[in-house]
Amino acid sequence: MKFSTKRGSPEKRATPCIAVGVYAGRKLSAAAKTLDRASRGNLSEVLRRGDMEGRLGATLLLYRIPGVAAERVLLVGLGTEADLREREYRDAVRAAVKAAQDTGAATATLCFTEIRVGRRDAAWKARQVALVAAECAYRFDYMKSNKSEPRPLANVELLTTARDAGAAARGLSQGQAMGAGVSLAKDLGNLPANVCTPGYLAEQARKIAREWKLGVDVLERKDMEKLGMGSLLSVAQGSRQPPKLIVLKYAGGPKKAKPVVLVGKGITFDTGGISLKPGAEMDEMKFDMCGAASVLGALSACAQMKLKLNVVGIIPATENMPGGAATKPGDIVTSLSGQTIEVLNTDAEGRLILCDALTFGERFEPAAVVDIATLTGACVIALGHVASGLYSNKEALARELLAAGDEAYDRVWHMPLWDDYQEQLKSNFADMANIGGRPAGSITAACFLSRFAKKFDWAHLDIAGTAWKSGKDKGATGRPVALLTSFLMKRAGKT
Ligand code: BES
Ligand code: MN
Ligand code: ZN
Repeated sequence: MKFSTKRGSPEKRATPCIAVGVYAGRKLSAAAKTLDRASRGNLSEVLRRGDMEGRLGATLLLYRIPGVAAERVLLVGLGTEADLREREYRDAVRAAVKAAQDTGAATATLCFTEIRVGRRDAAWKARQVALVAAECAYRFDYMKSNKSEPRPLANVELLTTARDAGAAARGLSQGQAMGAGVSLAKDLGNLPANVCTPGYLAEQARKIAREWKLGVDVLERKDMEKLGMGSLLSVAQGSRQPPKLIVLKYAGGPKKAKPVVLVGKGITFDTGGISLKPGAEMDEMKFDMCGAASVLGALSACAQMKLKLNVVGIIPATENMPGGAATKPGDIVTSLSGQTIEVLNTDAEGRLILCDALTFGERFEPAAVVDIATLTGACVIALGHVASGLYSNKEALARELLAAGDEAYDRVWHMPLWDDYQEQLKSNFADMANIGGRPAGSITAACFLSRFAKKFDWAHLDIAGTAWKSGKDKGATGRPVALLTSFLMKRAGKT
């Protein structure tokens, strides 16, 4: 999908399809009014017949409207004007793009920067248009014999005023970079685990590094042994697939500037190990590398936007399998930090690979470390599929991420990390256990990680409920690439 901004009056725009909003109660938006006037009341007459009430997400396609240069006029319901917020705006854009995709039009011109969304500016609206359009255009049929036909819609134009043109153009190009990052993360998430192995993730990281001129380093099992990553390796030892520790470096900032470090959980399949998972929906554990995928997506978006900051991505990648050499419940392992861990449940493997990756992160003298992980089923129970869980040892960093989530409409909710919860991780035999029992499972997982994040400002995003959808729309969502990218843009002084 290509994006561009256009200026001028809507009735004069010679385009295959022009989309204008209609509020609930058949109230025309400014652009719709302009078309109505140019057509001598043609649109109001259609509304009077009752075909378009302005219900949010409803669409009506009209042809050959006199006095209007566009081949098609697409009316898009916006709902009640006073209730139109971020979510409603996105829903309206989605409806417009989907309806345009069902026509033969190769270009759709959206008159959507004029729509008021609280205090959101034209750049925000343009970013959302690009993100939502990329979502509508996304397909995953690499593994199907019958690929679906490419749809005609290839261009989305935003019609703006002269005043908004610059901001809208900037927003579109940012949104396009973010959308490409989101799609990349979705692709990696959706690939089956027999294709998307740790080795495949490493290859993809190398490919991204070549494309965007990033630094890349892949540590093999023997490198990790030398370093003493006993915890990460204990997860990998039940699998035939060799583990990888992937390091990607984007250097857009001054040499001396401390990097933001992103750490992504890269379990390419989580069987649970010897603490084997039940069979139902186990296929969805191919998505257990979505944290890793989000790091790759965010890094490529950063590079595409040429953000002026330094970012390091660290991806511990392995399968969690119940092989003959697998870790057994009760085994005690020594982490890179030197702390010992009693593995009471081999299915709590995410924290075991992340803890060593966090300790490894110390060497980059980070400005901040953010880890992203499909870490706990308990987080899905707590927050459902709407918000990701946010934990941090630094209030200011938590606030930055909350704000970035709101900005990108990729929201997180701040959860407690109080010391009171740490008690649940007590082990009779080692420095700590890898599980804290049923109560507050997402919090105790974060508490476990916090013990390896004492030397830097750190935040943890539990994306177990948000990284993919189940059921008939099963598939990766690409979250939280948009949040991470917004966070980095803010840090780089953009937006
Ligand atoms: N990858 C899972 C978490 C998960 C489960 C995400 C279901 C999304 C849906 C993680 O490795 C895991 O198995 N966690 C266990 C931890 C428990 C053993 C303390 C869990 O949540 O059940
Ligand atoms: Mn697990
Ligand atoms: Zn897992």
